Amino acid sequence: MTNDDTLHLVTGGTGKTGRRVANRLMERGLPVRIGSRSAALPFDWTREDTYGPALAGAGAVYLSYQPDLAAPGAPQTIAAFTEAAVKAGVRRIVLLSGRGEPEAAECEDVVRASGLEWTVLRCSWFAQNFSEDHLLDPVRAGEVALPAGDVPEPFVDAADIADAAVAALTQDGHHGEVYELTGPRALTFARAVAEIGAAAGRDVAYVPVPLDAYLGVLAEHGVPDEVGGLLAYLFGTVLDGRNAAPADGVRRALGREPADFTDYARATAATGVWNP
Ligand SMILES: NC(=O)c1ccc[n+]([C@@H]2O[C@H](COP(=O)([O-])OP(=O)(O)OC[C@H]3O[C@@H](n4cnc5c(N)ncnc54)[C@H](OP(=O)(O)O)[C@@H]3O)[C@@H](O)[C@H]2O)c1
Repeated sequence: MTNDDTLHLVTGGTGKTGRRVANRLMERGLPVRIGSRSAALPFDWTREDTYGPALAGAGAVYLSYQPDLAAPGAPQTIAAFTEAAVKAGVRRIVLLSGRGEPEAAECEDVVRASGLEWTVLRCSWFAQNFSEDHLLDPVRAGEVALPAGDVPEPFVDAADIADAAVAALTQDGHHGEVYELTGPRALTFARAVAEIGAAAGRDVAYVPVPLDAYLGVLAEHGVPDEVGGLLAYLFGTVLDGRNAAPADGVRRALGREPADFTDYARATAATGVWNP
């Protein structure tokens, strides 16, 4: 168990999972420092000189990397960060990793070898991509066009990821565990979009598009090559059915069932975020 005065550094602390992790820790009265470029003490993965100040005094770290653990150079960056963490006296680290991504597994190996107490949370598609990220505008516009074919995905709720992260950060018994966090059932993107439309009371179409055409449209809209390359990897390589089977990570980490996509869709629709 961490102490009540353990400072928690939450990287990506303004993002979909990090924000929830930070809120949960703060609700428990635990000290939290947000690690992101816009934080009071700016932290930037591309600037090693920001690692030491962000880690100073921290005892536990939630590691949510940007842009992606599969991006070139990520293992080297994670190695530099974990070395700085050890030097700063950090005891425990929880890594948000990618499910079914051999490149992310390389970064997991770096964390495992760091000497820190570690827990890995392997995740694939977050449900909140439809409400807090790049798929929000398409849902609002009534058409989600993606190169996702009819491959089923067991979308995971960011709230479940945050619950598992907080458990691993604050409780004993999670050191050395790799939790594959998914929702309880796999849905095609067409089905997920239909559930969102039904919950929001709107017509929202899912349009499957070829990967090349999708990347071409992104490039036309000025999306950087680096981001296009990552999306090509996620849609063209990882989304091949390897992650279709739901996993038991939420049950193993938290002793309860994961949140279902329908409940996410209903609760999110009630906030009005999908109404243009
Ligand atoms: N989205 C998914 O479905 C999904 C699935 C599996 C794994 N993941 C992984 O989850 C991690 C988070 O991705 P996300 O898409 O969910 O994004 P996110 O956490 O919602 O947002 C990105 C966060 O990182 C911070 N950030 C951005 N650039 C940064 C930089 N150069 N240095 C430091 N902080 C930076 C942002 O804050 P500032 O703007 O203030 O810096 C923000 O807090 C990634 O490693 C991703 O590969 C995502």
